[in-house]
Amino acid sequence: MFSLFRKRYSVLASEILKGKTDVHAHILSGVDDGARDTQQSLELLQFLEQMGYRTLWLTPHVMEDVRNTTESLRKCFESLVSVYQGVCQLHLAAEYMLDAGFENKLDADPLLLGKEHLLVETSYFSPPVNLDGMLKSVWEKGYRPLIAHPERYEYMGEEDYKNLKRKGYEFQLNIMSLSGYYGRRPKAVAEQLMEWGMYDYVGTDIHHLDVYQDMFEKLSLGKEQLMTLEHLLTRNESI
Ligand SMILES: [Fe+2]
Repeated sequence: MFSLFRKRYSVLASEILKGKTDVHAHILSGVDDGARDTQQSLELLQFLEQMGYRTLWLTPHVMEDVRNTTESLRKCFESLVSVYQGVCQLHLAAEYMLDAGFENKLDADPLLLGKEHLLVETSYFSPPVNLDGMLKSVWEKGYRPLIAHPERYEYMGEEDYKNLKRKGYEFQLNIMSLSGYYGRRPKAVAEQLMEWGMYDYVGTDIHHLDVYQDMFEKLSLGKEQLMTLEHLLTRNESI
């Protein structure tokens, strides 16, 4: 009964995003299901600036169906940087799908998030054939796997999350999971993982403005969630 009346705080008005870093965004155009052209890239950049971000890691998909290479992405990135006149610092990384072609990509100069992290994801519906083995191979190459939006993987349950954390893997929350943008289940799982203190970093995973912009501007959280989010944003700075 009480929770119905618990005070909510606007993330935007709280200014916790001010000067902060986004570690996951699909802003680079024409390379995945994110921005379609440079104009859309610039609109996304402008929106994140307005939200308060000042450092952005651009993380296009790399997977069997999206055949981006480190070299091709670097070229696209340079061309965006050459037309961008905003205030954010831009960096290039990538979001690697743990699929059959993944291990070959580890040998091909992968795009790291920061000094040592490799942002990885799996299918939302079913686990990859050798999840453990692939994550281990990331370590063996000297990188640190960061698992993107674990709250969105429908096949994962409490034990899976606990096992991954026990093995030392880090989790990146999608901020908008907390709004219900991806549905009720990811929202409930995100809230639970947050309560268990399992998240290490937070990203927008922004692809398009449309509904996302409106929902992000209106995102409000309870006090504890807001404090946890602020902590994760502070951790983002160390990436
Ligand atoms: Fe993503």
